[in-house]
Amino acid sequence: MDFLCMIKNRAVTRRYEDKSVPVEIVEKIIDSGVWSSSIHGFQPWKFMVINGKDKIKKISEIVSDVPVDIAGDSMGKLVNFSARVIADAPLLIMVYNTKAFTNAAGKFFKINREYIEIAQMTEIEGISGAIQNMIMMAESLGVGSCWLTTPLFCESKINDFLNITDRLVAVITFGYSMQKEVRSPRKNVETKVNYVR
Ligand SMILES: Cc1cc2nc3c(=O)[nH]c(=O)nc-3n(C[C@H](O)[C@H](O)[C@H](O)COP(=O)(O)O)c2cc1C
Repeated sequence: MDFLCMIKNRAVTRRYEDKSVPVEIVEKIIDSGVWSSSIHGFQPWKFMVINGKDKIKKISEIVSDVPVDIAGDSMGKLVNFSARVIADAPLLIMVYNTKAFTNAAGKFFKINREYIEIAQMTEIEGISGAIQNMIMMAESLGVGSCWLTTPLFCESKINDFLNITDRLVAVITFGYSMQKEVRSPRKNVETKVNYVR
């Protein structure tokens, strides 16, 4: 399939078959992530692959336990919704920001608040590129996915459970799609782009 068609046809998957994703496919997904571009080649990402049912269940429970006073009522419902997506998935890739670049920027360059903010932003941009690579790589291999950020409300509990201190950027669920969702419509492209001639 042509690449643009694949981008347009990919729909988020929140219901998965009870079937694991083979190791060779997981390795290709990770490989596509690490080959993403990053600021000055700092590669500020770290990935944690979780495919054990008990671990996935525990993470889902942590996410479903988010206190309403942290997330708010309607956001709390969305976080709970993510917990169900996690519970259903045979594979999670937890995406972390090691802050390799902001740490280096703070140490070696003149510390300037505005510059640090730019450094933080560029790290997240690089990591987002890695996430999108992994989602599209998976799609090309017939594996569906869902990019989740609502679990970030439970970051400290998830990190305690996984014994990790890096910042959690996203949880991506992967698996064979039981039910693909319909893509949301796109706004007219003219409202989103300006050509300056
Ligand atoms: C940065 C980002 C964060 C997202 N976080 C969540 C989430 O926490 N929970 C969820 O169910 N979907 C999440 N999604 C998936 C979107 O909601 C999903 O792409 C959308 O519902 C389907 O729209 P689409 O047709 O444009 O893909 C996230 C997507 C992106 C890009």
